[in-house]
This record gives sequence, structure tokens and C-alpha cells, in this order.
Amino acid sequence: MRAVVVTNPGPAEALRVIDVPTPVVGPGEVRIAVAAAAVNPVDIQTRAGVYHELGWVDQPEHTGLGWDVAGTVSAVGADVTASTPTLQMGMRVAALVPGVDRPLGAYADEVVVSPDAVAVVPDGLGLLKAATMPLNGLTALQALDILGDPAGRRLLVTGAAGAVGGYAVQLAAQRGWSVVALARETDRAFITRGGARQLVLTPEELGEGTVDAVFDPAALGDSAVQVLRDGGRYVGVIPYAVPKGQRGIHPEAVFVKPDAAALAQLLHQMAAGTLEARVHATVPLTAVGKAHHGVEAGGTRGRWVLVP
Ligand SMILES: NC(=O)c1ccc[n+]([C@@H]2O[C@H](COP(=O)([O-])OP(=O)(O)OC[C@H]3O[C@@H](n4cnc5c(N)ncnc54)[C@H](OP(=O)(O)O)[C@@H]3O)[C@@H](O)[C@H]2O)c1
Repeated sequence: MRAVVVTNPGPAEALRVIDVPTPVVGPGEVRIAVAAAAVNPVDIQTRAGVYHELGWVDQPEHTGLGWDVAGTVSAVGADVTASTPTLQMGMRVAALVPGVDRPLGAYADEVVVSPDAVAVVPDGLGLLKAATMPLNGLTALQALDILGDPAGRRLLVTGAAGAVGGYAVQLAAQRGWSVVALARETDRAFITRGGARQLVLTPEELGEGTVDAVFDPAALGDSAVQVLRDGGRYVGVIPYAVPKGQRGIHPEAVFVKPDAAALAQLLHQMAAGTLEARVHATVPLTAVGKAHHGVEAGGTRGRWVLVP
């Protein structure tokens, strides 16, 4: 099968499409024939060598890319059927394929995952759209879980028109947060549809001490902490670069984890239209470089999706 990997991290030209044996499923694993794999910032960062420099990647030959997959189950390992009766050959599924230190990821014809990361895609929801959900929907959900009870409180979401921030605005509004969205003026319609009560272009527009909680997918850091009241909660997205604490605020970061039940719920919401699906473009697996250039150019709304 084909897989996209990086051997020497660098610009998009460092991406390589290689032929490798189709991975064999072990006990407690399932294999997915990939129909769609979304391209995310973490893939750009991995390809560019951010995690190699942090010492998080130690692959002898090559590093696989891709955290988001949707496709059909193509092999089921021993003990999976008994423990997870919903996962059977041919089922339409989506999964989080987590980790930066692995030889193969979701950018491939087939990918092996743990059933704990897999959810069935509801009838009526296309696999291209489903592939944009796992990483970013789960990250938004898990960040909101850290922030706790909304109880009418005011939450600033930065990067609110991005993939993580977009899901966070919608989920937070549904939970009862009073949501302020930091995004571009051109994003006003999207964040309003998502349930945000206010759009700001900068944290300074809000003023110091004006919100109870911040979720910061745009990684604004200190300037986003400034708008928190004393003792407010800050959740970022970069675990190795969390802003300094102050005024009883103890900033922390979300680090996404697989959660099959939560992913199933998110996919149901996408199928029902209560979470908006946004696909920017689809390209063949072999045109992965075009997608990486597109993500790096910035400004897109919705994901580039690779189609093997
Ligand atoms: N820790 C974890 O588990 C985890 C999980 C998933 C993602 N992440 C990280 O979360 C971050 C966001 O991911 P994503 O997929 O949501 O990225 P994305 O889709 O590119 O969204 C980022 C958004 O932030 C906006 N933005 C950035 N700076 C801004 C500013 N100063 N003012 C207004 N808007 C601004 C961008 O707008 P423009 O396009 O107009 O610039 C874009 O809409 C990435 O760093 C990713 O690696 C972490």
C-alpha cells in the first residue's frame, strides 16, 4: 500500500509517498481502508520537524503523518469483535490516529488503530466530512470538559473560525456558555451561526478581567490571559508552551486523547447538522504537498482532505 511519510523533516517537498506492506492487525486492533484523511496543523508541524527538535520523535526509518481518518473496516484483530460488537468488516467508521512518533499514520491506503479510537459514521454523513471530526472535535470537547460547568459564565474562544475553535464555539454555546469569539470580521456569519454572542478581533477589545474562561486555539497566550478575571481558567492547545500563571490563574493545555463514545456523539451531531462540517478541498493522496502548501498559506476555512 501507499503511505505518506517524512524521512528528513523540512518543507512540503520533504513529504514522500512510499510503498510499504499493508499492516497486519494484531490482537485488539482494527484496520481501516482509508477513504479520507484530513490534513491538520500537527501534520505540518511534524513534517517541519517541530517534534523531532523536541525529542518526541525517534523513528529509525520514517515518520508517518495523519491523525484523522474515515473509511471502512478492512480487518478485525482477535478479541475485537467480542469486546466491541459494533466494529465489523465493511463498517463505515472514523477514528483518531494519535501520536507523532510512529512509522505510519492516516495518510495511507490503510491504517491500523485501536478500537478505543473508532466510532461508526452515521448513515447520511459522508466520509469526507466525517474525516474532519476526530482530532478537532475531540480537542474542543476535552478542552470544554477541563473548563467545567458553564453556569452562565462568559468564555472567550480564540481562533474561533478554525477547526478546533469552530467546534469549541458551537459545543460551548450548546452547553450554556456565553461565548465571545475571537476571529476575523469575515468569520462573523460562521461564529454567529455557531451560537457566539459577540465577535472580537483582538483580546484588547474586551479589556482586562472581563471573562471567566479562555480557550485559546489561536495560541495568543499572555494577551488572552489578560482578559481573564482573577482566578479564571485558561486552556491552551500547545502543551509545551503554556503561558505563565498570574492572579490565581493557572494556565493549562489540552492534549487530545481517543474517546470512541465521545467521537460517536460528535459524528451524530455532525450528521444531525448541530455541528457544522467544513471541507475546504479534496486532493489525491499523491497531491499531499499541495494540501500542505495550502494549509501553510493560512486563511482557509475547513479542512484539506486527502483521498487515497
Ligand atoms: N493540544 C492538542 O491536543 C491539539 C489538538 C488539535 C489541535 N491543536 C493545535 O491547535 C491549534 C489550532 O488548530 P486548528 O486546526 O484549529 O487550526 P486552524 O484551523 O488553522 O485555525 C486557527 C485559527 O486561528 C485563527 N487565528 C490565528 N491567529 C489569529 C489572530 N491573531 N486573530 C484572529 N484569528 C487568528 C486563524 O485565522 P486565519 O486563518 O485568518 O489566520 C484560524 O482561523 C494548532 O496549533 C494545532 O496544532 C492542539
